[in-house]
Amino acid sequence: MEEHARYGGVVPELASRRHVEQLIPVFRQALAEATCTWADIDAIAVTNRPGLLGALLVGTSAAKALGMALKKPVIPVHHIEAHLYANWLAPTLASPNSGAGGADYPSVALVVSGGHTDLFHLRGHGDYVLLGRTRDDAAGEAFDKCARLMGLGYPGGPAVQEAAERGNPKAMTFPRALLPGTHEFSFSGLKTSVRYALQGENLPPIADIAASFQEAVVDVLSKKTIAAANELGVERILLAGGVSANTRLRAVMQQRCDKAGLSLFYPPVALCTDNAAMIACAGYWYLQNGRTTTLDFETRASEPLAVVRV
Ligand code: KG4
Ligand code: ZN
Repeated sequence: MEEHARYGGVVPELASRRHVEQLIPVFRQALAEATCTWADIDAIAVTNRPGLLGALLVGTSAAKALGMALKKPVIPVHHIEAHLYANWLAPTLASPNSGAGGADYPSVALVVSGGHTDLFHLRGHGDYVLLGRTRDDAAGEAFDKCARLMGLGYPGGPAVQEAAERGNPKAMTFPRALLPGTHEFSFSGLKTSVRYALQGENLPPIADIAASFQEAVVDVLSKKTIAAANELGVERILLAGGVSANTRLRAVMQQRCDKAGLSLFYPPVALCTDNAAMIACAGYWYLQNGRTTTLDFETRASEPLAVVRV
């Protein structure tokens, strides 16, 4: 983060080089913290899609080499599917309606990260329908770009959240692109409104602008997710991805789910943003079900997790 913050975002070439440097020390540290040796490892799960190709190539090459050396299966994992699985790793039971059973199917899942804003109907393990996605910016991207406009630094999500805690969410009315009749999202108009607002005179405090911007994002995300669940007659909602760490999104989703009689699940904050445990969790399910592959799998910069419902 520190390295990329200087440039205001992830620099792909830097990221790949840091992967090369950090991989072995991270393996060592993870094994030490888990008091494990390689002999305790059953399989190696690795992200192979979608993402920055350079970083994916470093990870998959290392995983394949390890798999060969240790004679263990290597399981390629889709990054967005892994975000979903974070809900099974250590479920946060938020709502009184959630019951004790933890996350389950069928459900509606909102994946909100730096690169994705995807709404899914999850029918079972590996059985997903993409209901809609963003037409332009992802929710996390909107947080990052607006944070930069407001001079709040990088990564933008946590910076906006922190500023918003001191602000009035009703200070400014930003547009909400609800795109009725679709399950799609759009955040580029909101970003433009924030830019124009910042050029105005007699500006309210930045905290107020941050709170009003955050409120607009949260309002749209929560309304559309709940509408999808109601439309499909599904009683469970799952949140995933970096933006699901947002305290305001969690709170508003909770209020609205409680009102609608829906159960809400989201991972603990540390498992919302990118982490290796969620990759392992998805890999575990593939391993349990004998869904392993040969070592010639590829890396891909983009690949949707599921097809759009027609
Ligand atoms: O899932 P993630 O860690 O990486 C991707 O796969 O993109 O998501 C990163 C995104 C960034 O845009 C970051 O600003 C946003 O998640 N984010 C947040 C919060 N924490 C991280 N957005 C809003 N509120 C937060 N607390
Ligand atoms: Zn991610």
